[in-house]
Amino acid sequence: MAHRVGIIGGDGIGPEVTAEALKVVRAAGVELATTDYDLGGRRYLATGDVLPDSVLEELRGFDAILLGAVGTPEVPPGVLERGLLLRMRFALDLYVNLRPFKSPPNRHNDGVDFLVVRENTEGTYAGEGGFLRQGTPNEIATQGSVNTRLGVERCVRFAFDLAKARPAKHLTLVHKTNVLTFAGDLWQRTFDAVATDFADVATAYNHVDAACIYFVQDPARYDVIVTDNLFGDILTDLGGAIAGGIGRAASANLNPARTGPSLFEPVHGSAPDIAGTGKADPRAAVISASMMCDFLGEADAATRILNAVDKTDDVEGTTSQVGDAIAAAC
Ligand code: IPM
Ligand code: MN
Repeated sequence: MAHRVGIIGGDGIGPEVTAEALKVVRAAGVELATTDYDLGGRRYLATGDVLPDSVLEELRGFDAILLGAVGTPEVPPGVLERGLLLRMRFALDLYVNLRPFKSPPNRHNDGVDFLVVRENTEGTYAGEGGFLRQGTPNEIATQGSVNTRLGVERCVRFAFDLAKARPAKHLTLVHKTNVLTFAGDLWQRTFDAVATDFADVATAYNHVDAACIYFVQDPARYDVIVTDNLFGDILTDLGGAIAGGIGRAASANLNPARTGPSLFEPVHGSAPDIAGTGKADPRAAVISASMMCDFLGEADAATRILNAVDKTDDVEGTTSQVGDAIAAAC
């Protein structure tokens, strides 16, 4: 049976890379029944709609959602981020943002192969805070960090399960427990408590600033990392930069409880400067789509796609030429 997938190509290079991802998934033999949704900066500028409630309800009915990228320079910051991307993450309870970093064979950092499990529904992203006396000389802005035992534990548990299934069986908690003594304490205690259920997983802890040094100087030390929402956001851009570039950085916004669809998207944005030029690298979208296949139970196809990406690593060309080469190698 075909998997039902909602497609949000979005803006800029989003639709271009999404088309290649779909081409590759189909070449790998996975049947998809897709429905396109017009969402993003273009729609917002034309109609004022960001994510109508009726569309959100429809999206709940899919097996998965594949997203390209949203954002156009004319849209003020925060409108699409909070109104579309974060709204979907929160409303669909996509509580894990899983981001793999694997350096291409024979390239910089060859052999580096780790995953970041980023908490995806809490922390500073929860939107706690506000203004007092806004626009006056006495104005105050606060932006809190929300950390619940439930939210931290389900994310940490996912990371332990993932680490347990990998050969190295190693999990590092990244936080800033020396300064964020409330949130950090909750994270550390939760991590230690869950660890007692996973005797075969070795653990480590790094402060986030130190982790930045290790990412650059010794990334091979990592297997699985678990961290909070904002640290995970920053660290995963660095991860992309040290493992094959942002053109390979993929992500899976997962609802592991499977109470609704999960959402798969490349980490890069809409890159309006190269939209329409054929210069966009579709690999991040393709790898995100392979994570979608894996989550939908198509593990063989997912592996074939990843192998095809590795095999065609030296292929240069337009977005669709790279997509064709990967599809042919499936
Ligand atoms: C990402 C992006 C988003 C985030 C933005 C666009 C809301 O940077 O997926 O990493 O901060 O999570
Ligand atoms: Mn980011």
